Amino acid sequence: MHLPSINELIDTILEKDPAARSRLEVVLCYPGFQAFVIHQIANELWRNEFFTLGRFVSHIGRVLTGIEIHPGATIGRRVFIDHGMGVVIGETAMIGDDCVIYQGVTLGAGAAARMGALSRGKKRHPTLGKGVIVGSNAEVQGDIELGDNTRIASGSILLKSVPANSVVVGVPGRVIYQDGHRVDEDVPADIEAEAIKSLKQSIENLEDQFDQLQQQIKDPEKNQFKEQSSLSPSSDGQPSTQRTRVNTDPVDVFLNGAGI
Ligand SMILES: CC(C)(COP(=O)(O)OP(=O)(O)OC[C@H]1O[C@@H](n2cnc3c(N)ncnc32)[C@H](O)[C@@H]1OP(=O)(O)O)[C@@H](O)C(=O)NCCC(=O)NCCS
Repeated sequence: MHLPSINELIDTILEKDPAARSRLEVVLCYPGFQAFVIHQIANELWRNEFFTLGRFVSHIGRVLTGIEIHPGATIGRRVFIDHGMGVVIGETAMIGDDCVIYQGVTLGAGAAARMGALSRGKKRHPTLGKGVIVGSNAEVQGDIELGDNTRIASGSILLKSVPANSVVVGVPGRVIYQDGHRVDEDVPADIEAEAIKSLKQSIENLEDQFDQLQQQIKDPEKNQFKEQSSLSPSSDGQPSTQRTRVNTDPVDVFLNGAGI
């Protein structure tokens, strides 16, 4: 076990997490710290070809911390796995120094997982450069490279390599910032939200048209007048009749911030 790197990790956690108050608290209460220590033992066993024992120690680490790190994975110095529950780090994953990984992150084998035993011994998992941040529940899949200081937004799914100093968001993950500059200004940061908004607008237009048709069917004479007044298009070419919508519409609530 490499004691200096364990001490260094305690310092890192105290520095990075405002909630951490003492070294003892880090040792007793930080699953990311405990998983790292257990991984050091498992990795030592693995490198000395005690494969099953290495896997078993890694499995104990998983039961105790909720963080699954394959004993073959290479983890750099000062790597902070914050909260940690649900993190999965595959056998051939490589994590550079000073990375931060949040809960629920998978560094997985992607499509290679389908090949089963055929891909044994091959590099199948991602390589993270130095200072990479992987947000909660992000999926980074396959033998891809994440350049130094890349930041992956929570919930993203990344299947392709990205250069250093990128900010990646979405499903599938897209680089929206590179070296501090916005990439592709015209594409909204959250393309899914835009797609949902556009679908919602189409549905609202259809509902308006449906309401108007229903009115006409119920009361054709009365609606002759209405047809001329309320169905006449407004200046933007849209019918002016609008269905009254209340703010409790769950889609509105979602689009206005609860979900996005
Ligand atoms: C991706 C991340 C690292 C970028 O951080 P940052 O560089 O400081 O920049 P911001 O947070 O301002 O986000 C940059 C852009 O990405 C967008 N974005 C951030 N997170 C996003 C997400 N999960 N999905 C979609 N878009 C996202 C922002 O809306 C912003 O877009 P804009 O520039 O058009 O306004 C950060 O947003 C993040 O997600 N960190 C992980 C946090 C986490 O998992 N915390 C767990 C704590 S328990």
